[in-house]
Amino acid sequence: MKIHVFKNKEIASEFAYTEFAKNLEQGAHVFGLATGGTPEILYQLLRESDLDFSNCVSINLDEYYGLDGNHPKSYRYYMQTQLFDVKPFNTSYLPDGTDTNVQSQIDAYNQIIAENPIDLQLLGLGVNGHIGFNEPGSPFDGQTSLVDLTANTIEANSRYFATKEEVPTQAYSMGIGSILKANKIILLAFGPKKADAVFGLAEGPITVDLPASSLQTHPDVTIILDEEAASQLSRDSYIFHE
Ligand code: F6R
Repeated sequence: MKIHVFKNKEIASEFAYTEFAKNLEQGAHVFGLATGGTPEILYQLLRESDLDFSNCVSINLDEYYGLDGNHPKSYRYYMQTQLFDVKPFNTSYLPDGTDTNVQSQIDAYNQIIAENPIDLQLLGLGVNGHIGFNEPGSPFDGQTSLVDLTANTIEANSRYFATKEEVPTQAYSMGIGSILKANKIILLAFGPKKADAVFGLAEGPITVDLPASSLQTHPDVTIILDEEAASQLSRDSYIFHE
């Protein structure tokens, strides 16, 4: 695991952007993508770039259960407005949050993941250490599932909704087993609220209680942090960029 720490999230996101560009140039074709506040600057840099993803495939980590892709808080809508409307991919997959036939949606998404091995997987990090919506206790070999969101995830995500009651309580999520099959993984985490989870993922024990600690078992993981998110790490465990 390589850990890079930057003064702020703007500079950290520029580093993430160069990693994306480098991987695309080297032939990465299938990109696993994340939503949320963390990758917004990276997506802005991608929108403003001259990179061409029109021959590429994207597979998103998750989608809220019950939200239609046109719903402004759905992750499909987020991806359209943050990236795809400006930088279209050949094919962009997200789980279908409106599919109430849970098993068939799970099977369909697992098949998509199996048929499109992920070259580069982008991850954010939950305050409780989740990756995708794989909450604490999720198995490290798990595939797609319908997840019950924990109270602290609902609380954290309520900042994107008018009220906490509007936050969906479930989501379809790619499993940790599928995430770990990606050829290369880049995780971004910014701000003081992520510091405990960052410590756990980088220096804590490998445990299902902190899903991101599973990344310690993957051979090619790059962690990109701002100083606040890195504040609990021992100084010699990371590369600091002045
Ligand atoms: C989003 C996702 C989540 C987020 C995490 C951090 O697709 O899979 O794991 O990456 O909840 O969210 P933000 O970036 O909003 O702090």
